[in-house]
Amino acid sequence: MAIGLAQWLGPLLLVSLWGLSAPALLLRRLGEHMQRLQENSGLHLRLGPGTATLPRAGWLEQPLDPFNASDGRSFLQRYWVNDQHRAGQEGPVFLHLGGEGSLGPGSVMAGHPAALAPAFGALVISLEHRFYGLSVPPGGLGMAQLRYLSSRHALADVVSARLALSRLFNVSSISPWICFGGSYAGSLAAWTRLKVLGPLRWAGEGTKCGVQSRGAVQYDGQAGVPLSVRQLCGLLAGGGNRSHPAPYGGLRRAVQIVMHSLGQRCVSHSRAETVTQLRATEPQVSGLGDRQWLYQTCTELGFYVTCKGPGCPFSQLPALPSQLDLCEQVFGLSASSVAQAVAQTNAYYGGQSPGATQVLFVNGDTDPWHVLSVTQTLGPSEPALLIPSASHCLDMAPERPSDSPSLRLGRQSIFQQLQTWLRQAKQSQLQRGV
Ligand SMILES: *[C@@H]1O[C@H](CO)[C@@H](O)[C@H](O)[C@H]1NC(C)=O
Ligand SMILES: *[C@@H]1O[C@H](CO)[C@@H](O)[C@H](O)[C@H]1NC(C)=O
Ligand SMILES: *[C@@H]1O[C@H](CO)[C@@H](O)[C@H](O)[C@H]1NC(C)=O
Repeated sequence: MAIGLAQWLGPLLLVSLWGLSAPALLLRRLGEHMQRLQENSGLHLRLGPGTATLPRAGWLEQPLDPFNASDGRSFLQRYWVNDQHRAGQEGPVFLHLGGEGSLGPGSVMAGHPAALAPAFGALVISLEHRFYGLSVPPGGLGMAQLRYLSSRHALADVVSARLALSRLFNVSSISPWICFGGSYAGSLAAWTRLKVLGPLRWAGEGTKCGVQSRGAVQYDGQAGVPLSVRQLCGLLAGGGNRSHPAPYGGLRRAVQIVMHSLGQRCVSHSRAETVTQLRATEPQVSGLGDRQWLYQTCTELGFYVTCKGPGCPFSQLPALPSQLDLCEQVFGLSASSVAQAVAQTNAYYGGQSPGATQVLFVNGDTDPWHVLSVTQTLGPSEPALLIPSASHCLDMAPERPSDSPSLRLGRQSIFQQLQTWLRQAKQSQLQRGV
């Protein structure tokens, strides 16, 4: 694991400046911003004059409590469909799982799942995660309602969505289904394979549960990122002027650039204000889902960005206790209950050795989160791919002319792995005589 410090210095350094309340939220803002940009660029690419129509959005009625048959309450879960490349009813279905944010039409038009679809004649469907985007159940985000938000509920949604979508789109019972996902949704893709049957699954980026002890420069070098690590360093080294000499002047400039790209004038550094916002139980119009995500970190996932030890070059303010305090302040959940929940999650899903079959774990070694994932092949049916110099979920992003040779090679390996597994699926069908 060779991560040069400079590679992940950028956004984290900026983030650590904003004090203890804002970093995680700001990182989420940055992630959303880039996802939107990348999805939109993919749409523009494919919606030139005379080309395909916009993908369709649909809604599935899903049980709010899939584990209690006598609870009749339901909610609407959004999905997107791209059938442009579908070769027939027996072709594969690429199911792109949403994570802790909203999903737009770009989720089935841009990015790697969509890019792979033509070669395999696949039907591409994306499924928004319950409680995020427009798939928020009625009744607000109070504690009583948030009980129905967890990865296990999300997996149950995948099972019922698969049934409903198969009927809706007349998908043959022998069609292989392949799950894709990045970050938390990458874990979900792997867990889908692990916990809920299905002929074939593939995890885009399988991160895992635990308490993250490192900072992040998750998005270095990606389309839509306002400032690369290289540019940031350039600013710090020489970006000052007479009234604000470097590195302070350069840092000010860097902060201005990032804030401008996010359309924000300033970020509050008030802890009290953050807590108040996170306590609000009305779903946010923006669909960012900060409260929901915090709830999932407090009740099952951990995933806290911290920086510890004498080697940490950043602000030590976003320390673990301060993040855990948020669980207490917002939801009344103690630090020990969080630790217990994370331990249970790791036990339930198998931590870093999940024991699933036909799951490909893809990571980028610039992405600080890769330490939580499976980065070494666990066996022939749990291969891992660690792409050099790639940042968070970069393999899932739309292809660009500027993509590095290692990224191209990585995407090629993903393609080949998928080809192998789909061929095997076909052979075993033939042997079974279907
Ligand atoms: C199941 O749902 C019924 C009907 O809403 C409810 O009365 C019961 O308490 C629920 N059981 C559990 C374990 O939540
Ligand atoms: C569904 O698929 C079957 C064959 O798999 C075909 O006979 C039937 O016409 C299809 N129905 C629709 C509505 O496409
Ligand atoms: C110097 O840099 C700061 C920070 O970017 C900027 O706000 C200020 O306007 C600059 N001053 C001049 C004279 O360019």
